[in-house]
Amino acid sequence: MLGLPFFRKRNSSVVNGAHADDNALISLRGVTKSYATPAGEFQALKGINLEIAPGEFVAVVGKSGSGKSTLSNMITGIDRPTAGEVIVAGAPVHKLGEGRIAEWRGRNVGVVFQFFQLLPTLTVLENILLPMDFCNMFSARERKERAYRLLAQVEMTDHADKLPTALSGGQQQRVAIARALSNDPAIIVADEPTGNLDSRTADAVFHLFENLVRDGKTILMVTHDEDMAKRVTRTVTIADGQIAADTGSLRSERLHLPRTTQNGALHPPPMAPGVPLRTGATRLMSEGAHA
Ligand SMILES: Nc1ncnc2c1ncn2[C@@H]1O[C@H](COP(=O)(O)OP(=O)(O)OP(=O)(O)O)[C@@H](O)[C@H]1O
Ligand SMILES: [Mg+2]
Repeated sequence: MLGLPFFRKRNSSVVNGAHADDNALISLRGVTKSYATPAGEFQALKGINLEIAPGEFVAVVGKSGSGKSTLSNMITGIDRPTAGEVIVAGAPVHKLGEGRIAEWRGRNVGVVFQFFQLLPTLTVLENILLPMDFCNMFSARERKERAYRLLAQVEMTDHADKLPTALSGGQQQRVAIARALSNDPAIIVADEPTGNLDSRTADAVFHLFENLVRDGKTILMVTHDEDMAKRVTRTVTIADGQIAADTGSLRSERLHLPRTTQNGALHPPPMAPGVPLRTGATRLMSEGAHA
């Protein structure tokens, strides 16, 4: 937690006249997004209300052009709503300026993309160090230790000094996931993370996400893969910029997943700095396919 003034307390709150879920880690209230097009204004999101509790694994599904990426970009602060409020990890993302949003995202949300988006001129290790260098949450020595532990978690230790172009798609995505975890964010947002992978490699990446949820992370994953969408705790279907279906929030109480403390931190913390990474994901990566 940054301890900055814009972080509100996690208790009763009223947003836009609606009563927000106090326990939500991600909260969208009346979110609309319009684009100016030659044909006039186009509404990509039309009044989205969505609350996601800590520990949920949410799949966002829907036809191409329905608004899935636009929705995920609202949560990561990559894009801003035209109207409405986006509260993520206690921060009003819709209000943050560019400088603040980059730091807030670096600490709170790990973002995974379909085409990996590793920096091509940096080695694998440097790609993972970069967000840690930017956010400055760990000492220089800790950063390197963390980077190697994360590489081990995704079974990429042997590739630390390679450039991304020397890796397969699945390997690049595993590095991208390690990078997303570098500052130990509570939330992972992934837009079609398996969309560019063969089914075996996609399954290994999905296993990695499942284990991250088991370790206390909250994940929102846009996917076209119906089999994967069946294996998450909740599926939200977007159609024409609106939520057409929602299998509903499986609350942390019911799942016996980590609860939040009064200041909103996960209890127990998913991974304290300096504590070895849990091995569940590594184990399943070993059992699963390798890219
Ligand atoms: N910058 C933009 N300018 C104008 N229209 C846009 C812009 N970005 C997205 N759109 C439109 O908003 C709608 C939603 O786009 P979005 O990328 O969220 O869809 P999606 O559900 O992620 O689709 P896909 O499954 O193909 O990735 C689409 O009709 C798209 O054409
Ligand atoms: Mg998309």
